[in-house]
Amino acid sequence: MIRVLFICLGNICRSPMAEAVFRDLVKQENLSDKIEVDSAGLGHWHVGNPPHKGTRDILDRQRIPYDGMKARQVHTQDFGDFNYLIAMDDENISGLEEMDNKNADITVAKLMDFVDKAEDTNVPDPYFTGKFDGTYELVSKGCESLLNSIRNENNI
Ligand code: 4NP
Repeated sequence: MIRVLFICLGNICRSPMAEAVFRDLVKQENLSDKIEVDSAGLGHWHVGNPPHKGTRDILDRQRIPYDGMKARQVHTQDFGDFNYLIAMDDENISGLEEMDNKNADITVAKLMDFVDKAEDTNVPDPYFTGKFDGTYELVSKGCESLLNSIRNENNI
């Protein structure tokens, strides 16, 4: 099983959106028995909460399910449990580096790293801007590219 964990700060806006979008893509490509998806946040403030209304609204409009999803915090165990830790921005990457798991043989990267010639290298935080549509554009583009990359790397 290939395990992918999306990371952001609060685990209520960007990473749950990526989790839902990516899981939906995986399902469409009949890879649900090969790829498992989850998300987590570096902060603890929203642990146990469902995705933010802005994220739920856009997922509803796209008819992408998010049932049962609840925020959780990233923990060191995740570096052993997952193959890909996919962050939304540079700040998330710094946070993961502070957790200091340099021995783990896993991919730690930003979502937009997988997009060729991406104009944005970070997925900006919509929690403070309310720009959930823009977030969705970046997340869906990033998820498609990420899935292609994982398929190539793992020959699936
Ligand atoms: P996210 O957005 O990292 O995309 O889930 C945030 C949500 C909450 C907070 C910050 C960012 N917060 O400070 O509570």
